[in-house]
Amino acid sequence: MKTDELREKYLSFFESKGCIRRPSDVLVPKDDPTVLFTPAGMNQFKNQFLGIGPLEFTKATTCQKCLRTGDISNVGVTAYHHTFFEMLGNFSFGDYFKKEAIHWAWDFLTSKKWLGLEADRLTVTVYKDDDEAFNIWNKEVGLPPDRIRRDDEYENFWPAGSPTNGPDGVCGPCSEIYYLPPGSQKTVEIWNLVFTQFNRVGAPPDNLRPLPKQNIDTGMGLERCASTLQGVLSNFEIDILKPLCHAAAEIVGVKYDFHAPEGRPVRRIVDHIRACTFAIHEGCLPGNEKENYIVRLLLRRASMEAYRLGRQEPCLHQLVPAITEMMRGPYPELTKTIETVSTAIAAEERQFLGVVERGVSKFHKLVEQTRGQNRTQISGEEAFDLHQTDGFLIELTENLAAAEGLTVDMEGFQVCRERAKEASGRGAFADSVMSEGPLDALRKSGGTEFLGYDSTSAEAKIVGIIAHQRLVDTFDRTGPSDPIGVVLNRTPFYGEAGGQVGDTGQIFTLDTEFVVEDTQRNGDLIVHIGHLKSGKLTTGLTVLAEVDAPRREGIRRAHSATHLLHYALRTTLGENATQRGSKVEQDQLRFDFAHAKQLTAEELLQIEDLVNARISDGADVNIQTLPLSEAKKLGAMALFGEKYPDKVRVVTMGDFSLELCGGTHLANTGQVGVCRVLKEELVAAGVRRITCLTGPKALTRMRETDALVREAAALLKAPHPEDLPRKILSLQEELREARRELARFTAQSLADNARELVAAAPVIDGVKVLVHRADGVPREALKEFIDHLRACDPNVAVLLGVVSDGKVALSAAVSKPLIARGLNASDCVKTAAKVAGGGGGGRPDLAEAGGKLPEKLDEALAAGLEYYRSKLTI
Ligand code: ALA
Repeated sequence: MKTDELREKYLSFFESKGCIRRPSDVLVPKDDPTVLFTPAGMNQFKNQFLGIGPLEFTKATTCQKCLRTGDISNVGVTAYHHTFFEMLGNFSFGDYFKKEAIHWAWDFLTSKKWLGLEADRLTVTVYKDDDEAFNIWNKEVGLPPDRIRRDDEYENFWPAGSPTNGPDGVCGPCSEIYYLPPGSQKTVEIWNLVFTQFNRVGAPPDNLRPLPKQNIDTGMGLERCASTLQGVLSNFEIDILKPLCHAAAEIVGVKYDFHAPEGRPVRRIVDHIRACTFAIHEGCLPGNEKENYIVRLLLRRASMEAYRLGRQEPCLHQLVPAITEMMRGPYPELTKTIETVSTAIAAEERQFLGVVERGVSKFHKLVEQTRGQNRTQISGEEAFDLHQTDGFLIELTENLAAAEGLTVDMEGFQVCRERAKEASGRGAFADSVMSEGPLDALRKSGGTEFLGYDSTSAEAKIVGIIAHQRLVDTFDRTGPSDPIGVVLNRTPFYGEAGGQVGDTGQIFTLDTEFVVEDTQRNGDLIVHIGHLKSGKLTTGLTVLAEVDAPRREGIRRAHSATHLLHYALRTTLGENATQRGSKVEQDQLRFDFAHAKQLTAEELLQIEDLVNARISDGADVNIQTLPLSEAKKLGAMALFGEKYPDKVRVVTMGDFSLELCGGTHLANTGQVGVCRVLKEELVAAGVRRITCLTGPKALTRMRETDALVREAAALLKAPHPEDLPRKILSLQEELREARRELARFTAQSLADNARELVAAAPVIDGVKVLVHRADGVPREALKEFIDHLRACDPNVAVLLGVVSDGKVALSAAVSKPLIARGLNASDCVKTAAKVAGGGGGGRPDLAEAGGKLPEKLDEALAAGLEYYRSKLTI
């Protein structure tokens, strides 16, 4: 059975049981700070499991894109490990439970109509004291007790070991189903049925709180199940992965054979590049932090394998079209980003190979040094230095070290890394508080109602105060302190989202003032971040929340202009110029979009014209809330990799722009006033950025430019600004002529000067030593001067110095026979430059140096002379 067919069968089977088929959630979730990548099918349903928010359905089924890096070193080595994989799942939120979950799983696996696996090849496990599950398997399904193993929380609880070790959150005992492939001695786990019935809070004992309802979460690895059905010996042999192994091998220039030594690295390349294709497709580019770092890591590990297989130039990006081809059935959107993804991968490959080239010699020195000191371990500091200054991923250092029989002090490395992070001032409020703890307790009481589409001020009640990463009832520390967070039951403040910055403003009562410096969103909660200026905050207190309205107006102008820009880009550059990100601030916006080339000046003008034409149209901006499917039918531009709720906000402008957007907008495009494009630049491979100003800021910028032009015209004595270019051209011509003149002059006077200088130079032990302050000679002409001097007497020792642009320039020259007598031009300039507050060097016969202390030039020259003298009078 083909993998595509298996995926479809699974989803239709559970649909036939009343489950709603839901699309895969994104791979890189933006609203779950507890994970970098979606690790399982259940993640998109966390709120439903916790009983938060309304339940639109109580049973669901999905095929979820997942990425896990816990077993990364096993990828390619074992038959079943991946980083990226697809997980089939069925879920219940207080609907069906153990009995149905077990029976349905059994039916799906064994019934001829569905997978038709031989029942005798299946065994199961249950949690050690889950008699209920045991009895269902034994008495109802009919499995004999010797095919039902009981195991502990590390084997039969999900997440594994969570009662004792965490993490906190929804969990429960599970029952796993194993299959024994024909001809094999070893069973393979194919399905995990989790009976999600607890919320774990804190350490044992008594840390498993029953959830309001009993739930089901199951997960079946699609690739693993496909390999079982296709009777192949590894997931990498199934129909959607084997062709990729062959394609990768061809690209790298080796022959793919499952058992050959090249087999493993090729499989690793396939896995990692497939993972990166999906992640980058969602806009997660390689970088140095969090999920971006993982993408970089995966790409570099793959690149490392190709490098070791002998292909030492960028090549892995060529695999993207093949991956897309294999995955386009369920994920047709991948075909739209082939070029962007390939370009990003190629850029990272190039960068990585450059890093390897530059860093490898430093690494080898480090190896020698380590061995020289009789050590077998590279220290944490050394590894961190390679990481920090040479861009060597720690994994690469470890990998190369292992090949040299050395280890790396990983703990030491982590310490250095943490220290560097602290030094760079991270750990701001949003980083520390938003990612963990205190907000979870608040979430239970429901989210914050957002009133800001219609108003900028409202009365509200404080429902939570977060200070020092804890939820507190009151807070009264005014004056300088760490920022704190305030959550209200309702608020007009917009929490940063969809590229639009958070609002600022005030929350106050008659005697309390809290200054809101930023507003962030976390799930359904809106958190006001800032400082208490006076009074006291108390949970339950009624306050007035007032947004900085002029700033919000500017944000609205910029946001509506962003939609106009998106429209203008697609009209001018084509449908592929899709949005990759944006930042909308007060009368200022930047917009990132996919495009391979730099925009021409004409294109930019055309884009600016289009935006301003739609502004002067004064088109109405309409906002509707519609089911996602209807919005898509209308042609709404949904962004790849964005997650949308079932009901979406659709922002329409005239008949030309329709976008899904939660931001705050104007009522009419005319209110933007004017939009100016400030610049266009490259931000990442295949991604360009346009920055614009709107309304008053655009006007101010135009005035500033006018003022600059007027000032320049006055300075250049141009009667009118229009005369400026002509004036500049004629000045440039004058300057060129003056330079030519000067050069003629200098050459002549240098030659004349040289004769006199050489004739007058002192002779020390038979050698003419010419140390001279060459005032007036341009620094670029010092070498030429030396040539003239040598032409007069080839056997001289020279040191020349000048002050030019407020700095010292020194040049020294020593003829070959004098080198034999121990004179060295490089040592001479170094001696002199040291006195003049600088340094330099060069060859023994010719060297240059600079210095920062012009007042020391005479002293420096004296030191140079002394150097020559000391060498000649030994
Ligand atoms: N969430 C469960 C797992 O990932 C099904 O195994």
